[in-house]
Amino acid sequence: MTARDLSVRMRDFEGVAGPRAPLYQRLAGGLADVPEVLDLLAEAPGPNQLPVTLLAAVHDLLLADPSAPLAAYYPNLTADPRRDDPVPAFVGFCRERRDEVAELVRNRTPQTNEIGRSALLLVGMARVAADVGDLAHLDVGASAGLNLLVSEYGYDYAGHRLGGRRLVISCTPRGDRPELLPARIPRVVARLGLDRSPIDLADAEQVRWLRACVWPDQTDRFERLGTAIQLAREAGVQVRAGDAATALASTAVALPVGHLVITTSWVLNYLDRAGRDAFLGELELIAQHRDLSWVCAEAPAYAPGLPCPPGMEDSTLTLLSVTRWRDGRRSVEHLATCHPHGYWLTWLA
Ligand SMILES: C[S@@+](CC[C@H](N)C(=O)[O-])C[C@H]1O[C@@H](n2cnc3c(N)ncnc32)[C@H](O)[C@@H]1O
Repeated sequence: MTARDLSVRMRDFEGVAGPRAPLYQRLAGGLADVPEVLDLLAEAPGPNQLPVTLLAAVHDLLLADPSAPLAAYYPNLTADPRRDDPVPAFVGFCRERRDEVAELVRNRTPQTNEIGRSALLLVGMARVAADVGDLAHLDVGASAGLNLLVSEYGYDYAGHRLGGRRLVISCTPRGDRPELLPARIPRVVARLGLDRSPIDLADAEQVRWLRACVWPDQTDRFERLGTAIQLAREAGVQVRAGDAATALASTAVALPVGHLVITTSWVLNYLDRAGRDAFLGELELIAQHRDLSWVCAEAPAYAPGLPCPPGMEDSTLTLLSVTRWRDGRRSVEHLATCHPHGYWLTWLA
């Protein structure tokens, strides 16, 4: 990817970060014009050449040592964050710690294990469970496996509340299809994750990387993440190491009981087109032997080739859809477009 392409990505990310993440919004806007920082991001493997890769690498180093002057701009690292332009301090940090930043950028994948997405996955999973009953949940690109606890969290869809109390996820539904809101939490009889590089919740450095992938402005997300990690440790969630494109069918075998529901959220953009085609091939392979459903929350523009309503191919919004295989026959239902972290969803007509 050229420096110009990376600059465009930074500008796009400036819009995505928006007012919810003013620090990252300002950084992305400023860094789009700083070639030496874009060069650093260019060291990431192709699919990881995303602004969040660089921002998480720097954040990880700051979490390890918050004494650097740059930390004074991070709302999660200081009680009274500086409000002046953070870009010079960020560029200075990257210059000073270039080797460490480059090493993280080269070797780590963004692993924003965002449990807000459980509010989206639940909509699809509850819809499937209403037809088929008990579910066996396989989350692909599961990271630390926190979205495997879909059935354990509580939810508040603008007053429509259901589920547990220890951790409540809010999601605002927009549009006029209230019948699509989950009526109840589905029963999950088995759960397993699959990830190319799973996060081990017993490893402090890996947990720090998970935290580094959270945007520093959103201090509520750190607290929520801490509770989810605790719940995941208690539940003993398991995530196997393996690739979505090659290990899906062999992993599904480990979940023989319950209707198999596979979930993906912001994962398939990290595969290239051949990898996504191979993933779809694995789904078809499983469907030759058993019924299954796939709840997908991915952005069509970043993961071309997935089921998508006509005209939405270039959309950067997260598209929530359910693909069902029953007796080998496939049908697709598109449900909503969503905020990438699940803050809201807009029902599709
Ligand atoms: C942005 S995170 C999303 C994690 C989680 N799905 C969520 O929504 O919170 C992307 C995850 O996909 C994993 N991943 C990337 N490429 C993969 C592949 N080819 N096979 C399996 N996992 C992959 C990464 O390791 C990372 O944990």
